[in-house]
Amino acid sequence: MKKIALIFPLLAITLLVTFCEKNKDPLSGGEIDYSNITDIKYSEHVQALFNKECTGCHNAQQASAGLRLDAWNYVALGSETAGGVIPFDSQNSRLMRMLTELRVNGQLKPHPADQGRAALDTSKTNFLARWIDGGAKNDAGEVPFEHSHEHLYVCNQNAASISIIDPHAFVVIRNIDLQELGYPANAQPHLVTLSPDGEFWYVSLIGANKVLKFDAHDNELLSEASTPVPALLAHHPTEHVLYISRFMDPANPQTSIYAVDSETMQPATGTNNGNISLPNSDVYHGLVMDANYVYTASLAGGNIIVINHATKEFLTALPLGANRQPLHLALSPDSQTLYVSCIGTDEIAVVDVSDPANPAAVNFIPVGLDPWHLHTSHDGDHIYVGNNRSNDFCVIDAQTLTVQFFGAGDGSDGLSIPHGVVAVDHNLYFTGQNNTGDYVPKYDFGNNRFAGTVVMVHPSTYAIQKVLEVGDFATGIAIHHGHP
Ligand code: HEC
Repeated sequence: MKKIALIFPLLAITLLVTFCEKNKDPLSGGEIDYSNITDIKYSEHVQALFNKECTGCHNAQQASAGLRLDAWNYVALGSETAGGVIPFDSQNSRLMRMLTELRVNGQLKPHPADQGRAALDTSKTNFLARWIDGGAKNDAGEVPFEHSHEHLYVCNQNAASISIIDPHAFVVIRNIDLQELGYPANAQPHLVTLSPDGEFWYVSLIGANKVLKFDAHDNELLSEASTPVPALLAHHPTEHVLYISRFMDPANPQTSIYAVDSETMQPATGTNNGNISLPNSDVYHGLVMDANYVYTASLAGGNIIVINHATKEFLTALPLGANRQPLHLALSPDSQTLYVSCIGTDEIAVVDVSDPANPAAVNFIPVGLDPWHLHTSHDGDHIYVGNNRSNDFCVIDAQTLTVQFFGAGDGSDGLSIPHGVVAVDHNLYFTGQNNTGDYVPKYDFGNNRFAGTVVMVHPSTYAIQKVLEVGDFATGIAIHHGHP
């Protein structure tokens, strides 16, 4: 009797001590109260929470969904489908959405409750959100990928945001929310381009009639220019001049394209208050330039338009035929050949511009349905184009002018309504608008918003390697090669 009376309290104390050991704050010796932490230390607070709640399934031996949470650099890398944290943006970080918004069969079941474990209480989820919104920093105060050199910029046209991506790790490292900067939900960012020195980036907002200028180091908004329905952008290779074309809306034709001084964002000298007048009222969308000439395309009239950069004046027009509907342009690295996607006839027109005053169409290459943006490889050997209406893409051999590869798909593989394309170190990246929803997002977070995508395509097999979910209706994509 006496013995039992003694053993019981001893057992109770032992259990209590063991429980406290497991939950204690390494400094204070008590359990961490996550609602009260003001000075967040990664190892002490965040890693401690991951160790307690997550690393049982997200470690080196068992990295569920390819995600390790046992050290900060793995947390930063995210999962095999890039689901992790977006510094400063808890709302769009998959890690947070898993813990607070996950649905299973339509029912709210926050992770890891979907895996038969207890979901985290709000003091913990709010704490993790505060850590991410503070930059998801490590003990040294570093933000994930703050030292990465190359960046991809993807416009999420229906989400009023721009995703900045590390092309090598292939994760979203920053999300620029235009509504937080005072622009409307229908601002419709369409394309980013960079200054040649890599110091600044510019984005066109079709719906807000603005082109914005950002500092490429800290992504601070610096200034803006106003012009109707700006769409594609082309920066002069050495001078401070940025050309701006128009949105492809046949109901809203214009009689000019626009040019600004990219330092001041004021109308460029030599223009009529920024406007460069063109012969007809038309939809001037496609845009590309070299040091001396600017090329645009009239979508309705079917002309390739040549503008003299020095005088800012119309030089000549090459009629391709109104049925062809030339949409987008790419220039070979030697500036001798212009490639034009023609959505009316599903071809790439090859135009000899070795004498820009006398351009000549030399070939029409049949591709998929509605060829959209084009990109030439660094060496000029290949032309890449995504076909907007057939959910596939073509690789064209620039020597033989034939389609070398046709990447077919039904959209469910991630490349749903391809729009933009760039090549980086021979890796290819396409954006997918996915406005049909053919690509189903990996997780159900309880709304029907379609995720736009960026897909990474293998440089020689051309197989889709990774799909990154970004914002609704991903359009233009640009590459920043880093600061010299
Ligand atoms: C019992 C095991 C288990 C625990 C505990 C667990 N996870 Fe997971 N986690 C998984 C599995 C399995 C998946 C893949 C789920 C799927 O594919 O539907 C997953 C997926 C995820 C994903 C999505 C990755 C992606 O991009 O597909 C995130 C983010 C995540 N977990 C974070 C956490 C965090 C944070 C914790 C701790 C709070 C945690 N997990 C705890 C097993 C677990």
